Amino acid sequence: MAERFVPYGRQWIDESDIAAVSSALEGEFLTTGPVVQEFEDKLKSITAASHAVAVNSGTAALHAAYFAAGVSSGDEIITTPLTFAATANAARYLGANVRFADIDPQTGNIDADSIEELVSETTKIIVPVDYGGLPADYDRINIVARKHGLKVVTDACHSIGASYKGKPSGSLSTAAAFSFHPVKTVTTGEGGAIVTSESVLASRAARFRTHGIVRDPAVQEEHGDWFYQMVDLGYNYRITDFQCALGLSQLAKLGSFVARRREIARRYMEALKPLSSLWLPMQSEGSESAWHLFVVRVAGDAAKRRPFFDRLRRAGLGVQVHYIPVYWHPYYTDLGYEKGLCPVAEDFYNRAVSLPIFPKMTDDEVSFCIEEVIKAAREILE
Ligand SMILES: Cc1ncc(COP(=O)(O)O)c(C=O)c1O
Repeated sequence: MAERFVPYGRQWIDESDIAAVSSALEGEFLTTGPVVQEFEDKLKSITAASHAVAVNSGTAALHAAYFAAGVSSGDEIITTPLTFAATANAARYLGANVRFADIDPQTGNIDADSIEELVSETTKIIVPVDYGGLPADYDRINIVARKHGLKVVTDACHSIGASYKGKPSGSLSTAAAFSFHPVKTVTTGEGGAIVTSESVLASRAARFRTHGIVRDPAVQEEHGDWFYQMVDLGYNYRITDFQCALGLSQLAKLGSFVARRREIARRYMEALKPLSSLWLPMQSEGSESAWHLFVVRVAGDAAKRRPFFDRLRRAGLGVQVHYIPVYWHPYYTDLGYEKGLCPVAEDFYNRAVSLPIFPKMTDDEVSFCIEEVIKAAREILE
């Protein structure tokens, strides 16, 4: 075992977070109380959205957003295979089918031309994923969507704090889903949110979060104050007030967290640029990534990715790989998806290694990771 271990991502909880959670625990409401609303208001101001619906995971946010955007049984969504399975699974929960569009080899984001090739009569939504925190190519994606009358629901689980042509993540499509898992830029333990500027979509998502139940004062007038009606098959996707208190306290640090991630990415870029055996992450014109991930790719023989990865792990780097193409998972191959469907995404996966990056990472840890990556590249890849 290496003496030190630097994970690829981890939360940063300080005294102010602990105080915020304690105070929420002493409040009158543990769930569905005022702190949930405050957290939603803060999310709205950060993302320039008119509505925010906080839920208990990023997966729940995707599920609710797809439902609210009108996805139902037999519909199709178009998304990227270079993502966590939840992006596609949320469509399957609704009985919808998933078409996988290939990616741009430079950025790892979904390719707008590949989307257009897959649009059919049954397509309902396009789901770009802001891979690693870099906003997808929204100008082109929104053109395809408008042309075919489709909504765009972003999986923005990596990109809170990022921007595209001066606009914040969350404001670039019909709706966006965030995750507040501990490895993400801000955390609520588990948690997520949908943001949108469409009021009908927002109210459908809010209803979905709580069993599809509505309490209409006019109907209560007739039947009694206890009366409610379940109008959709919703879920219990509610988030607690103490989680939202943590989220609010974390959002106050969003700017410094993202700035620190950018600083670490800049150091990696500078130090690793001379290595011809590694491809470094590419940024796109006008975009500012939130740097949730820093993914390098093995440039030569992709078979060397495994020994390179193992060598870094032995040195104490908690490297990871993001992502196994979703349709390679047995659940999806059982549905008939085959290897070779998205060759660019498959090649990306075969070469990828995510290096540690998180705001609490010290300068010394960054230097240690850089040294070990250079050593491993020289030993194994050159
Ligand atoms: C791209 C992407 N989508 C969806 C999710 C699901 O988020 P959560 O773990 O909060 O359910 C994640 C988190 O792992 C993710 O990285």
